[in-house]
Amino acid sequence: MPSSSVRVGVVFGGASGEHAVSIRSASTVITALRSAANRERFEVTPFYIDLEGRWWPEAVAEAVLASGQAAENSDLPDPLPPQGFGGLPSGAASIEVWYPVLHGPNGEDGTVQGLFTLMGKPFVGAGVLGSALGMDKLAMKAAFAAAGLAQVPYVGLNAEQLTKPEERSKLLERIETELGYPCFVKPANLGSSVGISKARTRQELNEGLDLAAELDQRIVVEKGVKARELECAVIGVKTLEASVVGEIRFDADWYDYTTKYSDGLSHTLIPAPIASHHSDQVRQMALAACRALCVSGMARVDFFYDDHQDRLWINEINTLPGFTSLSMYPMLWNASGLPLETLVARLVENARE
Ligand SMILES: Nc1ncnc2c1ncn2[C@@H]1O[C@H](COP(=O)(O)OP(=O)(O)O)[C@@H](O)[C@H]1O
Ligand SMILES: [Mg+2]
Repeated sequence: MPSSSVRVGVVFGGASGEHAVSIRSASTVITALRSAANRERFEVTPFYIDLEGRWWPEAVAEAVLASGQAAENSDLPDPLPPQGFGGLPSGAASIEVWYPVLHGPNGEDGTVQGLFTLMGKPFVGAGVLGSALGMDKLAMKAAFAAAGLAQVPYVGLNAEQLTKPEERSKLLERIETELGYPCFVKPANLGSSVGISKARTRQELNEGLDLAAELDQRIVVEKGVKARELECAVIGVKTLEASVVGEIRFDADWYDYTTKYSDGLSHTLIPAPIASHHSDQVRQMALAACRALCVSGMARVDFFYDDHQDRLWINEINTLPGFTSLSMYPMLWNASGLPLETLVARLVENARE
């Protein structure tokens, strides 16, 4: 390895429901950073965070990457340290740039970004504030509203309120009046459609609220719209750039967990078959969304587009979007002239800016 190469620490896994996706994303990122085009420039060390939040050095990380499966406690060296972050594993001190490939809570939400910030080390992707705002759907929506970005009507609530019968029935009435059916009930801090329900009746609304309340203190209920789903990728630090726009098509009623992660149940259209003024509008809104949330580095911004009413709403931002070779973020950049190998190199270089 030439001495001029940059030592990059890729952190993956994580105490999150999206652990398995993170392993797949990390494989893609690491393979691209070690490709012939990048081999001379980067020296990659992987680090693995197990499902209980412990950090593991390269040997464990490589074994997890090779198996493609989350490590069970029995796969890990004995004796197991206590759960949670117990300090950096060996090999971490010499890392020059950190590359978190963690989806969901405990990684995409500003926590790991806070650790890197305290260490004074550059890292790929959004900082603490942007990551935290992007993870929490209620905080995200408040910031979008403050920036004047169009989004579907919603009601935010706290699980605590649902335990008080009077408050609960007031909330149900408010949701029915302001949003109507169908509506979508979402825990504020999960991803991959986990814990989301589509409610068509009061009974389904009650069930959806109870499910969301089991998973999160903060809950969002949104008016359901019949819309196409568009996505746009953003990269950059001081100057942000937006990619071509893509569309996700699927046969299911909505883009739930099974549809997202089963082969053949969804497909992507890149570029999205929409008028060029619409894709310009999506790109502008994607950049505005990043500015509104203090997000830089990397983001995928998702939209709803009702082509009958010709209306566009911002849905959400993902600051550490899925990064398998079939994920929208790398595919959108590939179609925009940045192949995977160039993309990961650019992300690392941007972090050092
Ligand atoms: N207000 C809505 N109207 C119609 N469909 C929705 C609405 N909210 C969510 N959905 C459907 O649920 C999916 C997941 O919702 P989303 O808010 O993107 O959560 P996640 O962060 O888990 O991806 C969307 O891709 C869409 O198919
Ligand atoms: Mg989504």
